[in-house]
Amino acid sequence: MEIREVGVVGAGTMGNGIAQLFATAGHAVQLVDTSDAALEKGVATIGASLERLVRKEKLTAQAAKESVARISSSTDLQAMRSCDVVVEAAFEHFDVKREIFVHLDEICAQPVILASNTSSISITEIASCTQRPDRVVGMHFFNPVPVMKLVEIIRGEATSDATYAVVEGLSRELGKTPVEVRDYPGFVSNRVLMPMINEAIFCLQEGVADHEAIDTVMKLGMAHPMGPLTLADFIGLDVCLHIMNVLHEGLGDPKYRPCPLLKRMVAAGHLGRKTGRGFYIYDAGA
Ligand code: 3HC
Repeated sequence: MEIREVGVVGAGTMGNGIAQLFATAGHAVQLVDTSDAALEKGVATIGASLERLVRKEKLTAQAAKESVARISSSTDLQAMRSCDVVVEAAFEHFDVKREIFVHLDEICAQPVILASNTSSISITEIASCTQRPDRVVGMHFFNPVPVMKLVEIIRGEATSDATYAVVEGLSRELGKTPVEVRDYPGFVSNRVLMPMINEAIFCLQEGVADHEAIDTVMKLGMAHPMGPLTLADFIGLDVCLHIMNVLHEGLGDPKYRPCPLLKRMVAAGHLGRKTGRGFYIYDAGA
């Protein structure tokens, strides 16, 4: 199956990274979001990320220009009509995803594969909103998308071998390493990562050490590129809380209970880098 044109739903952090990746790999990209402002911000982020790659001599200025030219943006989901594969990277809420997948199922031709970049919502449940559950799959990228080498491919109960093979091949073509996982709460990545972050927040709440000390332990002691609290700010504390809730409800084990400090910070609107404040304070542009 030849994949020429790719649709990306959602121009936020993950969506614009995914769009950039497909465009630099030579695919025409349809990027869709609900507002012009979100699209403008997403396209500007792609421009800045490509400029960084040009500065580091990883991409020529010409290739960067051509990549930008391959991306069309629209607020109308009908733009996905001509796509061979669509990757959804919208807000992490099942109702939002259901609405998108119901519409994509109507808009896209039957052979088109519908993938979700969900970090923890069940692929089987998303697939059941469509008439093509065998062509629905999880394609979970990691932030920053142009840098991180992994794509976690999640097979729903009905995902076919043919669908899996196409998405696996596409991931390799993008320069990523695909890993197959089953549809289970948090998959593998977030089932392992989020309890570690949550435990770091418990350490902070209980006064075991301050935030910088906790991060230093994990950076220098375990060679993590970012400490867990810095990483939580990077991912977004609302996203971390959502994933802990999915693990807690989905696996029913109290060991996944979200830390009260995490809940309090989300309630206060301190969501990490995106709001300028999380476990650290961020200056504009920092
Ligand atoms: N676009 C293109 N390239 C980028 C980039 C971007 N947006 N951001 C960073 N880079 C490149 C830089 O050019 C640089 O390349 P070089 O090594 O060839 O010079 C390289 O990435 C490292 O960047 P920096 O030198 O600016 O900064 P750091 O060395 O501090 O690395 C980092 C930044 C790659 C983000 C690193 O700190 C890291 O790996 N952090 C952990 C990230 C992580 O764990 N992500 C997963 C989050 S979980 C997730 O996404 C799943 C979800 O479901 C929650």
